[in-house]
Amino acid sequence: MTRTAVVTGGGTGIGRAIAETLVEQGLNVTITGRRKEVLEETATAIGARAVAFDAADPAAVEGALTELPDRVDVLVNNAGGNAARRRPPVADGDLAGVRELWLAQYEQNVISAVLVTTALTPRLADDGRVILFGSIAGTRGSGGYGAAKAAVHNMAADLAARLGSRRITVNAVAPGLVEDTEFFGGTLTQERREWLISQAFNGRAATPGDVAATVAFLASPSAGHITGQVIHVNGGALLAR
Ligand SMILES: NC(=O)c1ccc[n+]([C@@H]2O[C@H](COP(=O)([O-])OP(=O)(O)OC[C@H]3O[C@@H](n4cnc5c(N)ncnc54)[C@H](OP(=O)(O)O)[C@@H]3O)[C@@H](O)[C@H]2O)c1
Repeated sequence: MTRTAVVTGGGTGIGRAIAETLVEQGLNVTITGRRKEVLEETATAIGARAVAFDAADPAAVEGALTELPDRVDVLVNNAGGNAARRRPPVADGDLAGVRELWLAQYEQNVISAVLVTTALTPRLADDGRVILFGSIAGTRGSGGYGAAKAAVHNMAADLAARLGSRRITVNAVAPGLVEDTEFFGGTLTQERREWLISQAFNGRAATPGDVAATVAFLASPSAGHITGQVIHVNGGALLAR
């Protein structure tokens, strides 16, 4: 039977590379995201199906269920981002602004994954695979974004324990700097980029393909004994000295 995959945030960047890799491996792939046009363009280019909805909105997730596959072998909760990269900095002492930013970061990275996973859990095949998206920031820290990604790492442990009896594995993939995605929205300075790259032992950023290859392995039948883990993909940058 053809295995099915749902990749949230599959229209761009890392999610697109994951979806493309899984299609190449013969899976029937559905990509999701908020922007319908972006999704449809990617879906056509890579041979996937597109279903547009906001993963952080419970009503939208519920509404999308009729269009999502009845059986899900692989769920990749890749949708996420850092709202701080999309808005002006919060002014010193603006507590309401801090609250709003941290909630937005939590909603986009944690709530999106919780809602989609909860909605699709009854459809997960025994021996299924759930991949969550953490970050090096979830371990090293980076304001509300890092805190949200740390929560995602924590989710992997809990979900893995709860779904283990069905032989479903749950892992979080935690990339370091990945280029050629929309993540930074043009806000990464050359100085910061060079510093981030200097932290990696191999002296380079990741490509979306580096992360997709890791996800494809975790999604494969051969990865059945790896669960509840945070898998770092960062050229060693987490250990930088
Ligand atoms: N790039 C990096 O250096 C890096 C490092 C560590 C971790 N990550 C993580 O890797 C994942 C993928 O990021 P990326 O670098 O590929 O950036 P990206 O190109 O901006 O991809 C993020 C995708 O998520 C979708 N998305 C965001 N919020 C959503 C929501 N509420 N509902 C549905 N879809 C949503 C976006 O599509 P729409 O805008 O159309 O919804 C977009 O396609 C994210 O979780 C990110 O935090 C990235």
